[in-house]
Amino acid sequence: MAKTKSFTCSSCGAAFSKWSGRCDGCGEWNTIVQETPLSSGPPSKSLGQKRGSPLILSDLSTEEAPPPRTLSGMDELDRVLGGGLVPASAILVGGDPGIGKSTLLLQAAARFAQSGLKTLYISGEEAAAQVRMRAQRLGLADAPVKLATETNLRNILTTLEAERPALAIIDSIQTMWADNVESAPGSVSQVRAAAHELTNFAKRRGVSVILVGHVTKEGQIAGPRVIEHMVDTVLYFEGERGHQFRILRAVKNRFGPADEIGVFEMTGRGLAEVSNPSALFLSERGTPSPGSVVFAGIEGTRPLLVELQALVAPTPHAQPRRSVIGWDGGRLAMILAVLEARCGIPFAGLDVYLNVAGGMKISEPAADLAVAAALLSAREDVALPAETVIFGEISLSGALRPAPQTENRLKEAQKLGFTTAIAPAGGKTGTNKGITLTRASDLTGFVGEHFGSG
Ligand code: TYD
Ligand code: MG
Repeated sequence: MAKTKSFTCSSCGAAFSKWSGRCDGCGEWNTIVQETPLSSGPPSKSLGQKRGSPLILSDLSTEEAPPPRTLSGMDELDRVLGGGLVPASAILVGGDPGIGKSTLLLQAAARFAQSGLKTLYISGEEAAAQVRMRAQRLGLADAPVKLATETNLRNILTTLEAERPALAIIDSIQTMWADNVESAPGSVSQVRAAAHELTNFAKRRGVSVILVGHVTKEGQIAGPRVIEHMVDTVLYFEGERGHQFRILRAVKNRFGPADEIGVFEMTGRGLAEVSNPSALFLSERGTPSPGSVVFAGIEGTRPLLVELQALVAPTPHAQPRRSVIGWDGGRLAMILAVLEARCGIPFAGLDVYLNVAGGMKISEPAADLAVAAALLSAREDVALPAETVIFGEISLSGALRPAPQTENRLKEAQKLGFTTAIAPAGGKTGTNKGITLTRASDLTGFVGEHFGSG
């Protein structure tokens, strides 16, 4: 008899026939756990032996009206959802414990309920009194949200069937427990079964469901990644400890652009929307200093200015340090290599630290040129002129590639009082009154112009 794969990674859901310390699927350590398989062995009869009912086929050209959407009135949330809540959609909101998921969703529940959606909030983690206390603290005690505390999935589905709300929030999916699945709540099988039942219910009955999922570091509780493929929309709620702002990021959205972000600030009275995040991320900036550069980025459909800070210092170690916060370490290594190979500027024997200020995470290749500028500015100990933003992608050859949405970046920079922008030549050239655009054709030219000969 063939061996069944009964070990599962609780982070990514990959299945294995034996235990190991590190998951080959996602590279996480200590996430492989043994699970009872859902069914033992293949079904005795093949599906083809019994007739099913034929499918109704349609053309691709059949007109489909765009889904009607409900706005919560929280712009930062509505934009990340792709322009409001789509009926019968399944949404996963993941994030570290304590980051503010329950707070965000209680506020969202209240706003959706106030816009006329029948909204149910089901907590499997907190007692009803705790949720009510939070609602009072948030000034939402009068919102027409229906509240229940339950972890038994069967009871929840029965309630949803009877109540037929437009929106049900399940906080959290890891506390839900299906009595037909023989494993502990929080295990990969339980989390998958619960998410499967709830998303199915959403589609069948036209109820939107929002599932909360804790990101976990230990293997005993399944992480939200194991259900990402089942839902329509995956949002992650992120933030750094010690910073009060939070970012809601769409990483998958069947009803809107992925990469869209919403910015919030955690206050004593819940989450406040930050409608001008560039101002927030630049607020701690003082006078221009070596190693500090402002990158004009785009997050989803919105421009966002962030400060990059670099520190370059002689290393006491045999192996110099490369430390990055908020950007990709591999990409930093690439830029250091290009600076060395194409411009003859070595970083050997130097420790390099790069930090995206304010705890923001950026992933755009368009930040390359800003990173290079921060590194050079730190290495040469020269500050770039104030009121300058930089953006552009660097290729391995040292050529610069224009970044998308140049106009939007320039407009945002101008709005925040910047007067100069440095960007790759090529791409669209619009005239932007009030901001001087300095074009750089390649990295060598850029280095020569702004940092002498390097
Ligand atoms: P919570 O929403 O419970 O996090 P999660 O559901 O992601 O685990 O948020 C918990 C933190 O937020 C907690 O440390 C207290 C803080 N908080 C505020 O600062 N202000 C508030 O108004 C609320 C409700 C919570
Ligand atoms: Mg919570």
